[in-house]
Amino acid sequence: MQTHTTLAALRAQVRQWRREGASVGFVPTMGNLHAGHHALVDLARRHADRVVASIFVNPTQFGPNEDYARYPRTPESDINGLAERGCDALFLPPVEQMYPYGTMACVQMHVPGITDILDGLHRPGHFNGVAQVVARLFNMVQPDLAVFGRKDYQQLQVIRYMTKEMSFPVEIIPAPTLREADGLAMSSRNQYLQGDERQTATRIHQTLLFMRDAARQGLPIAGIEDQATARLEAAGFTVDYAEVRRSDLSRAKAPDEPGLLALIAARLGRTRLIDNLEFDGS
Ligand code: PAJ
Repeated sequence: MQTHTTLAALRAQVRQWRREGASVGFVPTMGNLHAGHHALVDLARRHADRVVASIFVNPTQFGPNEDYARYPRTPESDINGLAERGCDALFLPPVEQMYPYGTMACVQMHVPGITDILDGLHRPGHFNGVAQVVARLFNMVQPDLAVFGRKDYQQLQVIRYMTKEMSFPVEIIPAPTLREADGLAMSSRNQYLQGDERQTATRIHQTLLFMRDAARQGLPIAGIEDQATARLEAAGFTVDYAEVRRSDLSRAKAPDEPGLLALIAARLGRTRLIDNLEFDGS
């Protein structure tokens, strides 16, 4: 696996592959890679001849009181894991490469509507930062396709919207959520969990299953959301939201609508966890 820190080196590599007629798949990440990220690389590999991963902890998607500074950075083990996985190239840009005029003077990206609800409401500016960095990465890597996890369902929808709107010639491929044996969705932030919190964190997935089952039994949406919130609060969480939505994230009206999903964001001590469950699917 080639590791590139400059855009020139990355572009030279991708140009070479293009000359060989190879298609290019892309997996953007913020590093501290786990099996969920590795599964994204595997999926990209099934759809493309060459796979590029990127690691960049993007400052513009973190709020002022969020975990940018303490976000886990583990480049050595990330590089080894990706190489073992048969990833062809890793792009590790420094901040100056991504934001040549600094993060205060950079061109902004604003995706309306979808960024104002759920996580967008609780993390103002977050998805605009995500859209901004993913647009830059798409322009840098110029992949044929890019893989994003369903774990970050709203992020996936933001990326799809932006890609269509901006006519980026990139196919967006969603990947299923990888979970620990007890149901906890894998996340780089799970390692913030202290002591009993790790056990308590499994309640999020259990509550999602409860929400799905309650919808199947025909409970009204508002009742499902209230009960889910109460269960999480009783377990010690501070709940940002526990909601049932349609696949386009508009509000659900009835529990028997097709294509519904439940989404939760909740804080346990210093750790904010998000997860979701699509009622018809994985
Ligand atoms: P990061 O949190 O590192 O996640 C990178 C990718 O891995 C995202 O597409 C995310 O949805 C996916 N992922 C994370 N945990 C997963 C799991 N348990 N199962 C399946 N996929 C999982 O998401 C970001 O980084 C950033 O916002 C980024 C898109 C890189 C832009 O900075």
